[in-house]
Amino acid sequence: MDAGDPDIGTLWELCMLFEFDREETADGIAEWLGPAEGLRILDCACGSGFPALELIRRGYDVTCTDGSELMLTHFRRNARIEGLDVRPELVLWEDLPRRHAEGFDVVMNRGGGNYIYAGAWDDEGLADQSTMAEAIGQWVACVRPGGRFYVDITRAEDLERREDQSVVHPTLRIGQHTVDIAETISIDRSTGIRTWSSRLTVDGIHSEFQRRSRYLRHDQLIEILKGCGLTDVRKTPVAGEYYDIYTGVRA
Ligand SMILES: C[S@@+](CC[C@H](N)C(=O)[O-])C[C@H]1O[C@@H](n2cnc3c(N)ncnc32)[C@H](O)[C@@H]1O
Repeated sequence: MDAGDPDIGTLWELCMLFEFDREETADGIAEWLGPAEGLRILDCACGSGFPALELIRRGYDVTCTDGSELMLTHFRRNARIEGLDVRPELVLWEDLPRRHAEGFDVVMNRGGGNYIYAGAWDDEGLADQSTMAEAIGQWVACVRPGGRFYVDITRAEDLERREDQSVVHPTLRIGQHTVDIAETISIDRSTGIRTWSSRLTVDGIHSEFQRRSRYLRHDQLIEILKGCGLTDVRKTPVAGEYYDIYTGVRA
């Protein structure tokens, strides 16, 4: 909050505060992961560190990568605050297979269906379905044969809603600061474009953000996951997760 003007990383972190109980979610993921010993995990959209830092604190060996230096600046600050010595890697998804092919027992990529932002997080571009499938393939390529994959997607009932979904979150006090966030998600069915618009107000100063994406239905995600060579693809309940989770095993 004191590190300069709010950016997309600041907004994301504040949204996290509203949508997740961080400890509950990390416990839920840890339960799905099982014992930490000997498990090599890749979080290939580690962003500002949630839930990778919570998992590292629980003893998991998590390699953290992200393609945005801006998000990694938030990550490093959060790691410092937590007293964790973690060096995240700046790696674009397209470079993952070259760098980490079949290198992990578990690969996770969560945060609201990140493939919808493939190539479009730091600016306001628009990923199409083949770009999303390509990104997911690059993540799956890092799972060792027999290893597991974890990804999330907007809840089916939210994808089916026809009306805009607007939320005005309750005012937050963070240190000396007063923070308000209002979000709207609208889906244009004629173009298949989903628009997430947010207004962040810190101490009375407004910042507006907008990210547009094409959305995937659950059946389309399942097809893509199977097409990437995953078996046992299923919706998996995970305590504390806000979105729906799909998991699979690399054949
Ligand atoms: C919605 S955030 C999720 C962050 C974190 N996983 C979480 O759950 O809070 C999406 C992340 O994906 C990253 N990302 C988007 N496109 C990318 C790409 N092509 N290569 C690598 N990372 C990318 C962004 O930088 C951002 O940190």
